[in-house]
Amino acid sequence: MISFYFLLFILLSAIQSHGLDKFIAAVYEHAVILPENSLTLVTAEEALVQMNRNLDILEKAIKSAASQGAHIIVTPEDGIYGWVFTRESIYPFLEDIPDPEVNWIPCFDPERFGRAPVQTRLSCIAKNNSIYVVASIGDKKPCNVSSVGCPEDGHFFYNTAVVFDSDGRLVARYHKYNLYSFEGQFNVPPEPELVTFETPFGKFGIFICFDILFYQPAASLVVDHKVDTILYTTGWLNILPLFTAIEFHSAWAMGMGVNLLAANLHNTSMRMTGSGIYSPESIGPYYYNMDTEDGHLILSELSAHPRNSSTFFTPNWSLYANSIDKYSPGLNVFSGHLFADEYTFTKLTEPQGNYTLCQNNFCCHLTYSILEKIIDEVYVLGVFNGLHTVEAKCYMQVCTLLKCLNTDLKTCGLPVETASTKFDYFSLSGNFSSSFVFPEVLLSEIKLAAGMFQVLPDGRLISQSSISQKPLLSATLLARLYDKDPKH
Ligand SMILES: *[C@@H]1O[C@H](CO)[C@@H](O)[C@H](O)[C@H]1NC(C)=O
Ligand SMILES: *[C@@H]1O[C@H](CO)[C@@H](O)[C@H](O)[C@H]1NC(C)=O
Ligand SMILES: *[C@@H]1O[C@H](CO)[C@@H](O)[C@H](O)[C@H]1NC(C)=O
Ligand SMILES: *[C@@H]1O[C@H](CO)[C@@H](O)[C@H](O)[C@H]1NC(C)=O
Ligand SMILES: *[C@@H]1O[C@H](CO)[C@@H](O)[C@H](O)[C@H]1NC(C)=O
Ligand SMILES: *[C@@H]1O[C@H](CO)[C@@H](O)[C@H](O)[C@H]1NC(C)=O
Ligand SMILES: *[C@@H]1O[C@H](CO)[C@@H](O)[C@H](O)[C@H]1NC(C)=O
Repeated sequence: MISFYFLLFILLSAIQSHGLDKFIAAVYEHAVILPENSLTLVTAEEALVQMNRNLDILEKAIKSAASQGAHIIVTPEDGIYGWVFTRESIYPFLEDIPDPEVNWIPCFDPERFGRAPVQTRLSCIAKNNSIYVVASIGDKKPCNVSSVGCPEDGHFFYNTAVVFDSDGRLVARYHKYNLYSFEGQFNVPPEPELVTFETPFGKFGIFICFDILFYQPAASLVVDHKVDTILYTTGWLNILPLFTAIEFHSAWAMGMGVNLLAANLHNTSMRMTGSGIYSPESIGPYYYNMDTEDGHLILSELSAHPRNSSTFFTPNWSLYANSIDKYSPGLNVFSGHLFADEYTFTKLTEPQGNYTLCQNNFCCHLTYSILEKIIDEVYVLGVFNGLHTVEAKCYMQVCTLLKCLNTDLKTCGLPVETASTKFDYFSLSGNFSSSFVFPEVLLSEIKLAAGMFQVLPDGRLISQSSISQKPLLSATLLARLYDKDPKH
């Protein structure tokens, strides 16, 4: 007995001083129940009834995650109150969310900061199930209408992510900085908030949806604050070929060298689906479902400190591209549009080849070999170096190998979901002027290519032999040049 307790003591002290090496993460993709009419005014009581319908579903998912050993669960942006509000109609759905410095467990002390039934319920769910809970709620902060910047209705409203720890304590509050187009009901905080907190299973950072495209706060949390894991609550509308949730989010985790727990909303008519648990070295598990309106829970074990893995490295993204001469001068090039950006394309005309394609002083190199060429399918190599302006202003350098919608070259760059052509091999590289490069490989029917590709220390994205098992939609290296973005 004594030795048992002695061993237990050693074990517990080890956990206390060094923390856990691994933890179990969960994300829940939620088919939010929308208010019947989000533009009409309702009372605070009616708003709460509506929000409790979603909280009932989220609570079931959280209980299930906790019973399977999860330490933390992320739920989606707008997952409690829904979307499309005016400033007036959102008001009854909001609560005053205090700065976590106040050290508050709403479950024990619900009235301490005024009416807070949603925070109280989330806190109790976290406490009762001993699990960290990440949720999206709206914050309201009164301001003096005669002071600069205060809206006419005397409040700032923020799209907010909150975290309650396993005791039910509010440990993080983040106000979304990069609002998306239909969020006119919310205000932008005066400065980007860099919200982090420590746990026994690593350092966490948090941001919301559209934030992922920008340096502040998303990249800054990793670069300047060295977080291990990002909690990412999102309502992501999928845009092929390069910006489907599972594709871009998994690539971001790999490119930034962090864990990313991404919880998306589920609504197929809005093209919202795609949640996953991503790490720098592994893709998924993930959920993508355009066939039914079901929510879904995902769990996975992750390393608490992914950059401490012996196999982790940061590639030099331009090393290979800078070391080789140009392949194949004199290709037939043409221009086309991908998500409204003007790309330079060249068609892959042979079963195998080596191509170099440049735009605006940026060059991409592709070596490929096709296993089984389907006669009516066309693939191109595409390159882009410039400012993307639709929906978001962000400067990008992109090398992409992709399938055109049909054999008409004007369709290259348009969304396409299925393919039949299998590749034996590909290697893609570019002379990027950025260290923020995101590797994406998407297979037919919107599937991720887990274990079918890798990035080499010299910056090449290369396929593994298993790539030949599934038809390819696209393989891409997408770089962000944050310092060339226009000011926020
Ligand atoms: C939490 O547990 C207490 C009793 O242990 C119960 O009264 C309460 O309803 C539970 N709350 C939630 C949100 O599960
Ligand atoms: C708002 O600001 C004005 C001008 O500074 C001041 O006179 C007024 O008392 C303030 N109102 C409140 C409610 O603080
Ligand atoms: C999906 O969103 C649309 C647009 O807001 C809405 O009309 C529709 O009812 C939603 N679908 C479901 C299943 O909730
Ligand atoms: C991670 O690695 C760094 C550098 O090797 C080391 O200083 C740090 O203590 C490690 N952290 C953990 C939690 O193992
Ligand atoms: C990457 O390699 C190039 C040589 O092509 C070198 O000039 C550059 O300093 C390297 N970058 C980093 C971040 O090590
Ligand atoms: C492509 O280049 C590699 C060496 O870089 C060479 O071995 C191979 O034969 C070339 N393939 C074609 C089709 O030109
Ligand atoms: C990329 O490579 C091309 C071709 O070698 C070269 O002209 C260009 O200057 C390079 N660009 C950068 C940013 O290094």
